Formats: sequence, C-alpha cells, structure tokens
Amino acid sequence: MSTPRYILALDQGTSSSRAIVFDHDGGIVAVAQKEFTQYYPQPGWVEHDPLEIWSSQNSTAAEAIARANLSSEDIAAVGITNQRETTIVWDRDTGRPVCNAIVWQDRRTAAYCAQLKRDGLEPLVSQKTGLRLDPYFSATKLRWILETIPGVRARAEAGKLLFGTVDTWLLWQLTGRKVHATDVTNASRTLLCNLHTGDWDDDLLKLFKIPRSLLPEIRSCSEIYGHVDRHLYPAGAPISGVAGDQHAALFGQACFTPGMVKNTYGTGCFTLMHTGEKPVVSRNNLLTTVAWKIGGRTDYALEGSVFIGGAVIQWLRDELQLVRNAAELDRLAASVPDAGGLFLVPAFSGLGAPHWDPDARGTMVGITRGTNRAHFCRAALEAIAFQTADLISCMEKDSGLPLKELRVDGGASRSNPLLQFQADLLNTSVVRPKCIETTALGAACLAGLATGFWSDRDEIARNWTVDTSFAPTQKRDRITALRGGWERALTRAKGWEP
Ligand code: G3P
Repeated sequence: MSTPRYILALDQGTSSSRAIVFDHDGGIVAVAQKEFTQYYPQPGWVEHDPLEIWSSQNSTAAEAIARANLSSEDIAAVGITNQRETTIVWDRDTGRPVCNAIVWQDRRTAAYCAQLKRDGLEPLVSQKTGLRLDPYFSATKLRWILETIPGVRARAEAGKLLFGTVDTWLLWQLTGRKVHATDVTNASRTLLCNLHTGDWDDDLLKLFKIPRSLLPEIRSCSEIYGHVDRHLYPAGAPISGVAGDQHAALFGQACFTPGMVKNTYGTGCFTLMHTGEKPVVSRNNLLTTVAWKIGGRTDYALEGSVFIGGAVIQWLRDELQLVRNAAELDRLAASVPDAGGLFLVPAFSGLGAPHWDPDARGTMVGITRGTNRAHFCRAALEAIAFQTADLISCMEKDSGLPLKELRVDGGASRSNPLLQFQADLLNTSVVRPKCIETTALGAACLAGLATGFWSDRDEIARNWTVDTSFAPTQKRDRITALRGGWERALTRAKGWEP
C-alpha cells in the first residue's frame, strides 16, 4: 500500500458544510460544499438542525474524496474546523439532539446576560474567560436548553446527555460515537473554560448551573483524537486536528508570530491578532482567546468578532432578492464611485465587538430619491469593511502598534471592491493569499503536523503565497468623512430593541 498523500479538512461553517482535500503543497485537490437550512423561529433567534449539520458534512466528505478520485486509504489525516459557540445537546445512547442547535448569532439569552451584568458578574467572567457576558457564547445557550426544554435538566443530571460545540458533535459522529472531546480553542468560546488553566472552571459551571458530566474532554489542537469509523469516509483515517474556524484561519494564514493579523470574511467577520504565549487583556472591548495549543504550548490572540459580514450579501440575495449572486453584487457595487451617502448597519443579530449591543438592529440611513440598487450593494460591501476597520482601530490601541498588513480570507475576500475599500479605510495593504480557504487549510495543517505529514511550521509558511495585494489609494480626508458618517449611522442602530 502506498503512503497516503492527502489531508481532508472538514469545515463546518454557519451557512454551509464543506470538505476540502489538500495535497502536500497546501494546494486544493477537490472541494465539496452543501448549504443547509437556517431556522429563524422568532426575531433574533437562529437555529440549525444538528442532524442536518452532520448529514451535510458527512456527505461532503465522501463527495470531496470521490471528486479527487481518491479512496479512504489516500487520506493521511482529517482536520475539523467549525462555526464556534453554536450549542448542541444530545442523548448519549440514541444520539438524538434534545432540540435544534442554538447558533452563535442567536440573541435569546440577551435578557439573562443583562441581568448577570446588573449583578456585577462581568468582571469575574471576563477575567476567567477573556470573553464578555453576551448571548454570543455557549454557556447561556446551554443553560437555556437545560432550563427550558422539558425533562432535559433531569436527564443531564442523570448523566444521560452530552453537550458539544459543532466540533465535538462531528467528532462524536465520525468516531462512531466513541470520542466525546473538544479542543481548547472551541472550549475557550463557551464561557465555561478558564483561559489561564485551559480547563472547565468550577465557579463558572456553578454560576451557569452546568453539570460537569455533560462536558467533553478538552484537548490540544494537533493530536490524534481517534479514527474515522469504518462505515464512514475516510474510513480508519486519524482525526488529528481540531480548531474553531477563526483560530484555524489564523494558523492557515501562517500568522505564527506576535503582531500578525488576519481577517476572515465569512458569515461574520473575525479579526485575530496573534499575541504570543501570554493572554493580552483588551482595554478596547475586544476578546482574549486561545490562538491554538500545540504540544503543550498555548498561544493566544486578541479577537474582534463582527456578527454579520458576508451574511449581508446573502441577505441581499435571499431575503431582498436584489442580486442573484455575489459576483453580480460586486459588479453593481463597482459601477458607482461611492454609496451616494447611504450607510447600511447590518446589526441583524445585534452588534458584536467593539459595541457589544445585543439590542442593536439593522439600520439604513441616508436614502434619497437618487439611491439605487448599486448604492445598496456598495453600502453592503462598505459596511463589511467599516466594521473590520473599527476592530483594527481597537487592536492598534490595545497593542500600541500600527497594523503593518492585513491578511484576508473567507468567501467575501474574493470581492476586489471590498478589499480595495478595506485598504483605503485602513491605509494599509490588504493581502489576499492564493488559497483563501484558509480556515480549512489551517485545520488540515494542524492535522498534518500531528501525524508528520508536515514536519514543522516553516514548511507550512512556505506554502502560503500571495495572490493580490491591495494598496490604499484614497485621500485621507475623504476616508475620515466616510468614517464619521458610519459612526453616526451606528448610533442609530444601537439600543433599538426595547
Ligand atoms: O464565532 C462564530 C464563527 O466561528 C462563525 O464563523 O465563518 O461561519 O462566519 P463563520
């Protein structure tokens, strides 16, 4: 039998499940992707069906391997990366979820978070977790499930149920229900994991009333977790890389040294700056998070999380039906010199960093009789860039360093008008690598490092190559005026929900 020559990355995102086969040069050999159903049962609520997450991910794995004309034996290792914070509880015997997954964007626990803040608990929670008391994170979603779904708390206390973020759910399924584990990056987003110890924190478990028996074991990002069940694809392959999608993207962008920054334009927008071996506390409303843990060493990052990034394009396409696809949106956006004074604040799920306002809602200001479809498209792209620029400003303040370069990836990073406007706003070069599937690539790299497929990070960094670099072209006073307009639009969106 020949040596397996490929790595399979499973990238379970908010809008779709994807599987990508990578070769040793970090090149993409095959991709399979499946969008799945989004449920919005009430305003501000967002759910997924965990069984559909699994079936879509499982089928894309088989499809990618088939498209690459490979079989299970050709796959040296599997890496998993995923939408983070999304919360699933299921029965350990039947595998049946007790309810739909509560997605990271879901705001149903906003009132509870506000109460905890009024009780003065945010400093304690932030000090332990690096996070905020916001419905974004898993703990309040898990508590909601335990408190609200009939019989669930009793079953949980009897040890009959399991909790997991999406990585854990997939891992449990892929290993034929044998492994109930998570990696430290996903754990660090639950509001239950202590950032300093890398373990579940008893005070936090008590605060949110979470039985320990529900929780997965926390492991590093690059080690063998188990093997794919013999009835699934790729049968018998080791699963040896697990990381939340934004952490995987930071790794895939080869941001290995302190000060390096990437932004992923996915459903949301997530900017991470590698800060080294010590967690840096943000004074500007960013999050402190684990970048990755490899071989006993933990690296940390500062993160700015924007809830609606590329999803605003999906919204224009699916809900308003203003465009048929992202390419059409790009064409329209590029057909006008600016948004004609229109500002769109896509606070559809509240606002994340640096505002942390779960009650904000989407807003459009500056509409005139001359406003047309192209201005809408342009304002949507600009909104993505404005939000990212706000995060970078906070990061520069926190680190005391001006940004040297922004490495970008994710679906919407295909958009040249978006990246040009981003470079103009930041007054810094914005660099798109050849492989913008950096999230999947990062998971593949973590998996490949654990099994010796790649020998070290230098080898991985050599695979990272530039596609296009966007340099700023606009006059600064014009940019200052635009950012002023954006600031004013933001104030209209904040605190909308009573
Ligand atoms: O924190 C949520 C994030 O992990 C979701 O990422 O790529 O699905 O927008 P994405």
